[in-house]
Amino acid sequence: MLDLLVRNATLPDGETGIDIAVNNGRITSISRGISADAHTILDADGWLVTPPFVDSHFHLDATLSAGRPRVNQSGTLLEGIDIWGELSPTLTVEDIYERAREQCLWSIARGCLAIRSHVDITDNALLAVDALVALRNDLAPWIDLQLVAFPQYGYFRHPNARANMIRALDRGLDVVGGIPHFERTMMEGGDSVGALCRIAADRGLPVDMHCDETDDPNSRHVERLALEAHRLDLHGRVAGSHLTSMHSMDNYYVSKLLPLMQEAGLAAVANPLINIVIQGRHDTYPKRRGLTRVKEMIEAGIPVALGHDCVMDPWYSLGSHDMLEVAHMAVHVGHLTGVAEMEAMFDSVTGTAAEIMHLEGYGLQEGCNADLVVLQARSKVEAIRVRANRLYVVRRGRVIAESAPQSVALTLGSERESVDFVSQKG
Ligand code: FE2
Repeated sequence: MLDLLVRNATLPDGETGIDIAVNNGRITSISRGISADAHTILDADGWLVTPPFVDSHFHLDATLSAGRPRVNQSGTLLEGIDIWGELSPTLTVEDIYERAREQCLWSIARGCLAIRSHVDITDNALLAVDALVALRNDLAPWIDLQLVAFPQYGYFRHPNARANMIRALDRGLDVVGGIPHFERTMMEGGDSVGALCRIAADRGLPVDMHCDETDDPNSRHVERLALEAHRLDLHGRVAGSHLTSMHSMDNYYVSKLLPLMQEAGLAAVANPLINIVIQGRHDTYPKRRGLTRVKEMIEAGIPVALGHDCVMDPWYSLGSHDMLEVAHMAVHVGHLTGVAEMEAMFDSVTGTAAEIMHLEGYGLQEGCNADLVVLQARSKVEAIRVRANRLYVVRRGRVIAESAPQSVALTLGSERESVDFVSQKG
């Protein structure tokens, strides 16, 4: 007797009519025509079944705080940082915990079961660290949270950041963060990359740095990040988040940079919703898009994931933590409308992000965790096109979220018809 049997799934690779058997929280078999009894039988009815969405870049400490104490009128990164500076002293552990928990419920409902969240560590009381470490433990049965020690106001620029980085890591944060473009000078930015990678190497931790989140083509800290990853043998453990300055760099320099990143095993995390809102704000016309060079990095063999970054916070007042919305924006802003490119963007919010975060047991193979999402779509491209409804979200073999198929009833004349915006079966 199985715990769960998923019948008639379409898989991300396009295979149809697949059954998925689950026992003790793991996938025990995935093939056609599995005949076994199960405590729960879930009819996927030909819909797409995928591993869960993964958000590799988010800020749980700031989420759902939009408008406190004021809204970001200029839309710039710097005004957002100013507002966060006004809000931070008013926060409590309870407030941070409750907002972040609410956000995680939204995430689970959207089928996102892993989030890498940056956590501001410049507050001497480390309230956000304590709140999110507690939340990581409390929600562990349902969602994986990875926490990045993030010196929001600069590792060298903020007087508390260096000591607090160590204190935060000692309290159990998982990843070393940074923000070299916000240090006082380019040189100090580079030095911060070196110092933070050294800490990561000494502690055996990964690195995920906000890096070059600017339209300044001379912001080239990603180069130093690649150098340190290579020099300290951190291959496959270092991610550069945002990398928006690459949008504005000249092609000759990028032709040197990409092989350097690939050699260092660097990964990139782009945040298209936020990049398209924040970048280009100093431009008149034409206004730059600011998204990093996703297409070129993928072609160069550099893993690229996509993050949501913000939901209703000082930097971005929209969003509901839908990773398909993120992929949808990337497809548009990055000119990634080829079929293989759109499929790659689906992977950037699922499997590629899981690889970058080194999530154990992720995937739809035998032996993997029985974590999956049934989408009201027939393919990865269709899922992005319609930002597909999540029919079921399964964690360790248990259905933890479900919603009815979406359709709209039309009455045109005397006929009643319905549309669901997805292609017909068969
Ligand atoms: Fe961020």
